[in-house]
Amino acid sequence: MCSIIGYYGDGLAAPILVKGLKRMEYRGYDSVGVATETGNEISVKKGVGKVSEVNNALHLDAMLGNVGIGHTRWATHGNVTDANAHPHPSSSGKIAIVHNGIIDNYGELKSDLEKRGYVFKSQTDSEVIANLLQFNFDEVHDIKSAMMRTVSKLKGHYAFVAMFQNGTLAAARYHEPLIVGIGKNGYFMSSDVLGFIEKTDDAIYLDNGELVVLDQVGIHIFNFEGIPVKHQITKVSKEFADVYKGDYAHFTLKEISEQPETVIQAGEKSKAAIDSVTDVLKHAKNIYITGSGTSYNAALVAKYLWQKYAKIKAEPIISSEVFFAPDTIEPNSILVAVSQSGESADVLEAVNIAKKSNSKILAIVNTLTSSLAQESSLVIGMNCGPEIGVAATKSFTAQLSIIYKITEKLCDGCIKLDSRKISESIAKILEDHSKIKEIAKELREISDIYILGRGVHYPIAAESALKLKELTYIHAEGIPGGELKHGPLALMDSSVYVIIINPNDFTYNDTLTSAREIKARGAKIIGISDKPSDVYDHWIEIPAIDEALYPLIEIIPIQLLAYYAAIEKDTDPDYPRNLAKSVTVK
Ligand code: F6R
Repeated sequence: MCSIIGYYGDGLAAPILVKGLKRMEYRGYDSVGVATETGNEISVKKGVGKVSEVNNALHLDAMLGNVGIGHTRWATHGNVTDANAHPHPSSSGKIAIVHNGIIDNYGELKSDLEKRGYVFKSQTDSEVIANLLQFNFDEVHDIKSAMMRTVSKLKGHYAFVAMFQNGTLAAARYHEPLIVGIGKNGYFMSSDVLGFIEKTDDAIYLDNGELVVLDQVGIHIFNFEGIPVKHQITKVSKEFADVYKGDYAHFTLKEISEQPETVIQAGEKSKAAIDSVTDVLKHAKNIYITGSGTSYNAALVAKYLWQKYAKIKAEPIISSEVFFAPDTIEPNSILVAVSQSGESADVLEAVNIAKKSNSKILAIVNTLTSSLAQESSLVIGMNCGPEIGVAATKSFTAQLSIIYKITEKLCDGCIKLDSRKISESIAKILEDHSKIKEIAKELREISDIYILGRGVHYPIAAESALKLKELTYIHAEGIPGGELKHGPLALMDSSVYVIIINPNDFTYNDTLTSAREIKARGAKIIGISDKPSDVYDHWIEIPAIDEALYPLIEIIPIQLLAYYAAIEKDTDPDYPRNLAKSVTVK
């Protein structure tokens, strides 16, 4: 999604803003812009492309001024064009804004403002904030009051930072993240601590419905009714600063390679929370488990494991579906919400709905300062460090590790998660990429790939399909093995590849039979297994482990395959087209 940033201080704003935007580029990245103030004049530069491309072309970081705002855009309203990139100045150019979120009533606000003579230069919903704020400021001549009037008219969800001609910054938060950084020589306002972590680790996490005004006097925080609000300063973990690729060509490869460590660390700092969650689940009447994308696939694994080993039923629900079937969640239930970012709008909406029916929220989340963590009564931290590559990799295995730890406790040790053993097995798979690289070359020209798995391996097949789609843009579909003959077999011919997830467990023989049926139709078979078979055109070997634990390791070769196929296809694995890391809009 979009990133917003503002700086007010002694230093030159533009280079600080550009650096902050680069660190937050993972959130959204089709266009970039910066506005600064010098001598009561606002200058704006913006364009389509990545931060470094736009910076090289327009020299954003050479703009003058000690106050500024910046933005990376992920288009929602209006095409990817220079005009639609942020910052958006008001008609008069006396205010400029950067915005993250969606203004639902922008159409009516825009036509009202147009009737009053305001001119709009973009197709975005965001530009309405600039002109509405200008209209209100011209009426009341006071920044705080103008902000209060403006937010009282906006419907939707947003975080925005506005820069006034006199160099004052003002910001508002409503259901989109906005964090204030307090440095020695300046203040920051940013969608993510990554925007300012190099400069300061002192942060204030604004609540929904709060406004900030930053001027020569200092920083003032109010609620939307104008009442001053006091906040504690939080020390942000320095691990957030560790967002460089190091020797790796891409963040995605770095994050895949970190998994031998992250599966051990997962949930390590939340042992007490894991105990409490287990206790709550054991005594719950109804349990639901929700997430989006990869996090939903982890939720599916939880359903299988808790049912099979602990005889506890948890109903998985795709977060974005909860709104359309809110009665699915019985009153006074438990909702386990799984999310890497803790900011996915769909997940937060599901949580909101569940809370209205008096359900308790348990979160498995990576970002402990996120909205989800704040909304939950018990929080288990994935503890896998920042994940920058848009495709979820290490966060998935961290989620699974936590789900296994809960399962182990729920079933009083009937399965044992030996994290060291898992870590060694993952390290073994990661030791040599050569075979996977060769297979990736064959995927360059294909247009369809299917992934088959039975039982608990089906969610891994679904997750594999998601990784292949995102990173390679090849049509990919996860299929529960037994469903093959109920339709998908019609698609099998010599043009397709099929990945068979087939560890040597209770699903092995049935899945091998499916592989033979597919092979008979001419498709190429890639087998992921600890046991070779003549049916595989390519066998990717995984180590033999305790049969309950295969899902934790069998996804690794497919993450690598998706990564190397992306390289073969010359797509950017870190920033797949049209996608953003945290999907904070519905
Ligand atoms: C897949 C991916 C997305 C996310 C989904 C949920 O690789 O990254 O499908 O898993 O947007 O995000 P979180 O877990 O942050 O709620």
